[in-house]
Amino acid sequence: MSQIEKAKIPDVPQMHQLINHFADKGEMLARPLSELYESIRDFFVIREGERVVACAALHIDWSDLAEIRSVTVTEDSQGKGLGDQLIAACLKESAELGIKTVFCFTYQPDFFRRHKFVDIDKMELPRKVWTDCFRCPKFPNCDEIALIYHAEEPD
Ligand SMILES: CC(C)(COP(=O)(O)OP(=O)(O)OC[C@H]1O[C@@H](n2cnc3c(N)ncnc32)[C@H](O)[C@@H]1OP(=O)(O)O)[C@@H](O)C(=O)NCCC(=O)NCCS
Repeated sequence: MSQIEKAKIPDVPQMHQLINHFADKGEMLARPLSELYESIRDFFVIREGERVVACAALHIDWSDLAEIRSVTVTEDSQGKGLGDQLIAACLKESAELGIKTVFCFTYQPDFFRRHKFVDIDKMELPRKVWTDCFRCPKFPNCDEIALIYHAEEPD
């Protein structure tokens, strides 16, 4: 299994390329380099040697709400379980932080449904989560699907 780690500054140019490669294809929201440096502590990466082959971020929105964003796996590394590893790492970190609710906006809802995310009406999410949307080229005609994960209470 590939090692998943928190991102480091030298990873950022490759993360930028990876995310914006899929953003150019209309599959996710683009992220400027400046934002990736500012939010570096949100990110997990999976590397093969020096190469970043996958990344994802857990972004904290509020005391009880976080977002998984920018989940990407290079085409030649897809189908090997890296996407699953990224989601598991984000959910583990949110649990460790004490955050029980995690949402995402995506064009790949089935991928998130596998991880116990369920569909939610975007309008049910607090307004704060829309901050990013204002700079999305599709705003206000968002066609991404919102899903939410509620951590199970321990028995
Ligand atoms: C979606 C994405 C992150 C999946 O990553 P991946 O590493 O290929 O996924 P995994 O190998 O971990 O897949 C694990 C399981 O999920 C399934 N799966 C993968 N992508 C899926 C999708 N888009 N929809 C439904 N199921 C999916 C796999 O079939 C596999 O199932 P199995 O264990 O029963 O065989 C990857 O395809 C990607 O980076 N896509 C482009 C960017 C993107 O659309 N990101 C979406 C999040 S915003």
